[in-house]
Amino acid sequence: MNDSHFDLVVIGAGPGGYVAAIRAAQLGLKTACIDKRDTLGGTCLNVGCIPSKALLHSSEKFEEAQEHLAEHGVKVGKVELNLDALMARKDRVVEDLTKGIGFLFKKNKVTSITGSARIAKKGEVVVSAAGKDATYTADNILIATGSEVTPLPGVEIDEERIISSTGGLALTRVPKHLVVIGGGYIGLELGSVWRRLGSKVTVVEFLDGIVPNMDGEVGKAMHKTLEKQGMEFKLRTKVTAVKSTKTKVVLTVEPAAGGDTETIDCNVVLVSIGRIPSSANLGLENVGVEMDGDGVIQVDGNFKTNIDGIYAIGDVIPGPMLAHKAEEEGVACVERLAGQATNINYDAIPSVVYTRPEAASVGKTEEQLKNAGIAYNKGNFPFIGNSRARANGDTEGFVKILADAETDELLGVHIIGPDAGTMIAELALAMEFGASSEDIARTCHAHPTLNEAVKEAALAVEGAPIHI
Ligand code: FAD
Ligand code: NAI
Repeated sequence: MNDSHFDLVVIGAGPGGYVAAIRAAQLGLKTACIDKRDTLGGTCLNVGCIPSKALLHSSEKFEEAQEHLAEHGVKVGKVELNLDALMARKDRVVEDLTKGIGFLFKKNKVTSITGSARIAKKGEVVVSAAGKDATYTADNILIATGSEVTPLPGVEIDEERIISSTGGLALTRVPKHLVVIGGGYIGLELGSVWRRLGSKVTVVEFLDGIVPNMDGEVGKAMHKTLEKQGMEFKLRTKVTAVKSTKTKVVLTVEPAAGGDTETIDCNVVLVSIGRIPSSANLGLENVGVEMDGDGVIQVDGNFKTNIDGIYAIGDVIPGPMLAHKAEEEGVACVERLAGQATNINYDAIPSVVYTRPEAASVGKTEEQLKNAGIAYNKGNFPFIGNSRARANGDTEGFVKILADAETDELLGVHIIGPDAGTMIAELALAMEFGASSEDIARTCHAHPTLNEAVKEAALAVEGAPIHI
């Protein structure tokens, strides 16, 4: 048996790559997965989804103990923060999960290779580690190298005072004043973490609203609620310079449309203006893999690049940069390689911002429907009318359902509210099955649950909610 030849070599062990590798092995392909990190799981497990959610959860507990337990009749003494312990817990969660991928690789007989990979030619991958090169050959190569932080021209990230999300997950002190550049997913999630732990947080956003890809009504509600929590926003504003002095960091900002500049002093700046695909230094130019001007790898419906035997999935190809999207693509790609006819419904990929309240969405936004000239009916239901939300004392937000005006088919659902990220799964499933708003309205929802707000929003599409 040739130990350096595989049916499939996957480059990148993030949620796209490691899931693809495991599924390929399940389907009988001799599979290797290469990553330059010492730990498996990619951005998601090491410096993304998992550590950020651990910090969001811990900081929520800290804020709850400080501000909300008393209203439930729970009296606590002086609440103090032990940041070292909070970070150590997050590190343990990450360590356990990344090791878990190693276990899954062993269980499924995926060969795990550590080192930096490049494609030397079609069917050949060279891996560099500790100054040595090793060559592997493969019938098929799957690129799952993910993405990295979009740099802000002229601003150098040192991960201590001028940080990316990676630094924002590992600060050793709570900054007095944190300025976040970019009011998207990372800015609002990590901004929430540090505000809860005691920072003053100012978000500088170029556009005239935060989370610009979400439904407009949800974006506005999110803005209002985060402002109420104490976050400050400077919309329609661009950063033109960031300078570190011995004692502070100074940002120069000006209106996005041009005008007078002003300066903001702070202790730490988080740059979170998006992510770019990791497609450089992979040898793609040598083999002629087609990319757009931003390095996004172009693929066909089977995730095949323009070169036979080379495939790509996840953050490195077009579409939302989300872990579950990468996973679905990984599975679909290798199942098609194995002769199955797997399909992905890109209209039913949910997205969630894990702030409090959470914002979750699936399908088209109201703005997208208007722009496309699609006639729709709309049902809104506020959580203030939901008995479980009232019992929990967590009534902010609403569920909004958009259904086709003619057929009643669900076109989009947008939720801002308690546990929205969990609730959206019902709607993603409904959309996968081509459900109508009436299907949701006539489905029995357990009482008292937050999901009853979904049923009520569906009833509201016909103008007949019961509890409002
Ligand atoms: P990645 O996870 O980026 O993995 C790519 C891997 O390829 C990396 O481990 C890298 O080391 C490796 N690699 C790159 N080049 C090479 C090479 N030449 N040789 C060998 N290895 C290489 N998404 C969600 O859905 N939910 C969330 O809650 C969420 N939270 C996030 C929070 C933060 C702070 C960040 C930064 C991202 C978050 N994301 C979230 C996005 C999510 O992490 C990505 O969409 C997801 O990780 C993409 O998966 P991937 O497999 O395409 O790539
Ligand atoms: P983002 O794309 O979510 O948000 C970037 C924000 O920065 C936008 O609002 C944009 O208008 C703004 N912006 C761009 N250039 C700017 C500038 N020069 N000055 C001021 N504002 C500017 O990107 P973010 O937050 O960096 O996250 C990257 C990606 O990671 C997300 O798009 C998402 O795909 C993924 N992610 C997902 C999470 C989740 O699913 N909960 C959590 C964190 C990240």
